[in-house]
Amino acid sequence: MKVSVFGIGYVGLVQAAVMAEFGHEVCCIDVDRDKIAALERGQIPIYEPGLEPMVTQNHAAGRLHFSTDAQQGVEHGQVIFIAVGTPPDEDGSADLKYVLAVASTIAQHMNAAKVVVNKSTVPVGTADKVRAQIGKVLQQRDSELDFQVVSNPEFLKEGAAISDCMRPDRIVIGSDNPDAIATMRELYEPFNRQQDRTVVMDVRSAELTKYAANCMLATKISFMNEMANLAEKLGADIESVRRGIGSDPRIGYHFIYPGCGYGGSCFPKDVQALIQAADHIEHSATILKAVEQVNEQQKSVLFRNLMHHFDGDLAGKTICLWGLAFKPNTDDMREAPSRVLMQALWQAGAKVQAYDPEAMEETQRIFGQRDDLALMGTKEAALRGADALVICTEWQAFRAPDFDLIRQELHHPVIVDGRNLYDPARLAQKGFSYYGIGRGMSIQQEQ
Ligand code: UDX
Repeated sequence: MKVSVFGIGYVGLVQAAVMAEFGHEVCCIDVDRDKIAALERGQIPIYEPGLEPMVTQNHAAGRLHFSTDAQQGVEHGQVIFIAVGTPPDEDGSADLKYVLAVASTIAQHMNAAKVVVNKSTVPVGTADKVRAQIGKVLQQRDSELDFQVVSNPEFLKEGAAISDCMRPDRIVIGSDNPDAIATMRELYEPFNRQQDRTVVMDVRSAELTKYAANCMLATKISFMNEMANLAEKLGADIESVRRGIGSDPRIGYHFIYPGCGYGGSCFPKDVQALIQAADHIEHSATILKAVEQVNEQQKSVLFRNLMHHFDGDLAGKTICLWGLAFKPNTDDMREAPSRVLMQALWQAGAKVQAYDPEAMEETQRIFGQRDDLALMGTKEAALRGADALVICTEWQAFRAPDFDLIRQELHHPVIVDGRNLYDPARLAQKGFSYYGIGRGMSIQQEQ
């Protein structure tokens, strides 16, 4: 099938590559000339396991094209995906200007019937706006070409995007038009070989499904972080509690890991956008507001532990950070808890000495050169001469370190673990002051 994708960001590129891998002929359109030129040369703008070979092989096989020519893109695709960004505007609502601009572009160049698919995460009611926009421009052109607008949200996890996209838990198709639904089923047929995972519903329900999924997951995390903070005060160990509740299949083990707060490009943005959407219809999204508030507080838990340990004085101290990305297997720093920690440390007069397997270039890009930030080539080098070690991201490489070396390299044997990677009893035995999230050695218990 001939497919076009407008917006070659994270979602657009992964979707395009996987569709080409399954044999569709995919044309990728973006307004960013540099990005398109780089992709043509086989340079992938993001780090995502498995993406680079998939893009280069399908490009070489002629199934994946890159262009800035919108007309070519519109004419090529029987199905046209809109996968441009929906950045939060000032009040946190999703800004639809890029989505509606693509809708206009599609209408300007339409030469045959099209199925237009919203892949971007967009507020409920956006498909109606896209439909109205295309209709308006077609009318100006005196054109009566047929088109359908479908909502088909993505559920990709960074770091696992290729496998999530190739083997999705579900394929949500929001449309009430039988022809459009049939086209979408045909497009996704190769994804569904083992089992039909398609869930067909009306457009608005599909749009809300995406927000509901992310907000539910964010709620699980904030709930666990609240439990962790309670466990700390009550002298319980959240890791035992986690195993104790996860064994109930109604709760399950997934997504109940306490930590230093959720980040990334989706959860913070989507929770805020749904709160705003609810406010607009005069409904207070009480749970979601609490989810966000707990997360904001959680992002400063690492700093609070450090301040506590060093009696409120971090001036002149050097703090080693292991992990900067918002989660492992990505170089994405968007809304990463490490950023909140670094800013707080700098404000307190401390220096940061950090290592991350993938996100150091991105960190450098964001913060530039500064005397109080040193990005080190290895996790061992980052320890050298530091006053404490903080774990911000649970990369595999940090799970079983040489604790004797850590003791040797640090000025003070202090570990603040934002991901509960280590056993508090073992570290206590080795002479460390260890601060996990919701574990035995709490600030309260020490006092
Ligand atoms: C998320 C959704 O999982 C995905 O379905 C959606 O399409 C986009 O948003 P992503 O942002 O890539 O994906 O990251 P995810 O793996 O879900 O993690 C999000 C954040 O939650 C990370 O900061 C992670 O550290 C945190 N998290 C996750 C926890 O703190 N505890 C957990 O138990 C799980």
